[in-house]
Amino acid sequence: MNFELHSLHDTDLALEKTDALLVFLTAAFKPENDAFSRLVTEVLKTGDLLAQTGQVLDIYRPSGFACSRLILLHVGDGAVNDVRKAAGTATSLIKGAKPEHVTLAFPQDPSPVVLRTAVTALAEASYVYTSTKSKAEGRAIRHVRLLVADVQGLRAGFQRAVASVTGIEFAKEWGNRPANYATPAKLAQAARSLSKLSRIKCKVYGPKEVSQLGMGAFEAVAQGSDEPLRFIELSYHGGGKSSAPVALVGKGITFDSGGISIKPAADMDEMKFDMCGAASVLGVFRALADLQPKINVVGLIPACENLPGGRAIKPGDVVTSMSGQTIEILNTDAEGRLVLCDALTYAERFKPAVVVDIATLTGACVIALGGVRSGFFTLDPGLSAALMAAGESSQDLCWPMPLDDDYAEGLKSNFADLANVAGRPGGAITAAKFLQRFATKFKWAHLDIAGTAWKSGAAKGATGRPVGLLLDYLMALDQPGINA
Ligand code: BES
Ligand code: MN
Ligand code: ZN
Repeated sequence: MNFELHSLHDTDLALEKTDALLVFLTAAFKPENDAFSRLVTEVLKTGDLLAQTGQVLDIYRPSGFACSRLILLHVGDGAVNDVRKAAGTATSLIKGAKPEHVTLAFPQDPSPVVLRTAVTALAEASYVYTSTKSKAEGRAIRHVRLLVADVQGLRAGFQRAVASVTGIEFAKEWGNRPANYATPAKLAQAARSLSKLSRIKCKVYGPKEVSQLGMGAFEAVAQGSDEPLRFIELSYHGGGKSSAPVALVGKGITFDSGGISIKPAADMDEMKFDMCGAASVLGVFRALADLQPKINVVGLIPACENLPGGRAIKPGDVVTSMSGQTIEILNTDAEGRLVLCDALTYAERFKPAVVVDIATLTGACVIALGGVRSGFFTLDPGLSAALMAAGESSQDLCWPMPLDDDYAEGLKSNFADLANVAGRPGGAITAAKFLQRFATKFKWAHLDIAGTAWKSGAAKGATGRPVGLLLDYLMALDQPGINA
C-alpha cells in the first residue's frame, strides 16, 4: 500500500478520481460554494446524514463527482476514537468492491494523532493474511491519498504514520504465521532480511554459541524441542558512536505448549502468537529503517519453542542463568521469563541507556487490563512518563503496574536462588518481579502485551502492537537534549 499526502485546497473533491472518497466531517464543517459543499449541506438538511458522530452516508456514483463511491463520515468533534471507528467502518464498507484507489479527505485539519489513527485504522481494516492460503488474493487497496489543508504541518506526522503502519504490518505478518512457518530459524531469517536496510545490522547465534554464553535458562526452555533455538541481535545505528543505545528485548517463543506443565487443548493454537514481543521488535526495526532517527537501538530476541518431550525440563529442575543466579522451574509454562532473563543479562554488554522488554508474558495481565492497554512496569518516573506519552501519541495505549518488593515473596525457593513462579494472585506483577532480578544494571521497563498483541475469536490475529508505542517512545529520543 502506498500513501501520499496532498493539499485539500488544490483539490476539487468533486473531481477527485478514485474508487472510494472518504470524507471525515466534523461539527466545524463550513460549506463553501463548491459541488461537494452543496451536497453536504443538502444531505445534512434532509437528514440523510445526521450531524452526529458515527453517522455514515454511502453514496454510489454521485452525479457530478468523479469518484465511484463517496462516503461521508460524521465524526462529531473529530475525537480520535470516533475517527478510528469511522475509518474502520468505511474501509469495511468498501472492501467488497475491491477498491484500488482510496482517498481520505479531512475538511478540518486533523491533529497528527488523528491522522495517524485514520491511516492505522484503514490499514487494519483492509489487512488480508495470505501467506499460508493457497488461493488468497491480497489486499485490494494499492494507493491511498490523504487530503489535508496544512500539508507542511502534517508532513512529519504523516511520515511517522506510514512508517508505523509498515512496522505494524511486518509484526502482524510474523505474529500470524503458524509455528511451523515461523520457527526460530525462520524468525532469524526475517531479522537478517532487515539488515539489508539502511543502518541495520544483524547477528544470529545458534545452540552452541548460546551454550557458550552460559544462557542456561534460555537453553533449558529450548531443550524440549527438536527445533533448534536462535538468539537474534539486531542493531540500528543512527546516533553517534558514544551515544548509549536503547535495547529492546522481545520474547520469541514461537510456540508455547506449556511444556511438561502442558496447557489445555482448547485455544492452544493461539500460543503461536507467543513470539509477538519478538515480532514487535522486528516491526520497530522495519520502521526505524524508514524514519532514520539519530539514535542507537539494539534488538535482542531469544527464540525457541516450549514443548514437552524426553529432553524437556521438568517441574523442580534447577537451571543456572547467564547472570549466575539459579532458578527452580516449578512450572514449565512460565517459560517466557526464563528466556528473557538471559537476554536481559546479555543486554548489559551494550551499556544501554534503557532496556525495554516486550513479552506476551502472563494470562494474568489479560485479566488485569484486557485488550485495551498493555501493562508496563518500571521504577523510573521519567521512563514511565515517556511510555505513557508514547502510548497516547500512537494510540497504542499502556498503563503502569506496581513493582512493590512484597510481590516478590512468592518467588523464594528452597532449592535455588529463586523460583520461576509465585502463586496465582498478582501473576503479571510476580512475573515482572522475576525479571527485575535480572535488570539491576540499567534503567528498565517491562511491557506485558499478552492482552494486546493479538485478538481471539472470529477476528483472530496479531494486532502488530506495541510497534506504534515503541516507535513513538524511540522517536521522542531523537531530539537534541533528550536523554533516554
Ligand atoms: N505465553 C503465556 C502467557 C499467556 C497466556 C498469554 C494466555 C496470553 C494468553 C505464558 O508463557 C504463560 O504460560 N504464562 C503462565 C504463567 C503461570 C504458569 C505462572 C500463565 O499466565 O498462565
Ligand atoms: Mn507459557
Ligand atoms: Zn509463553
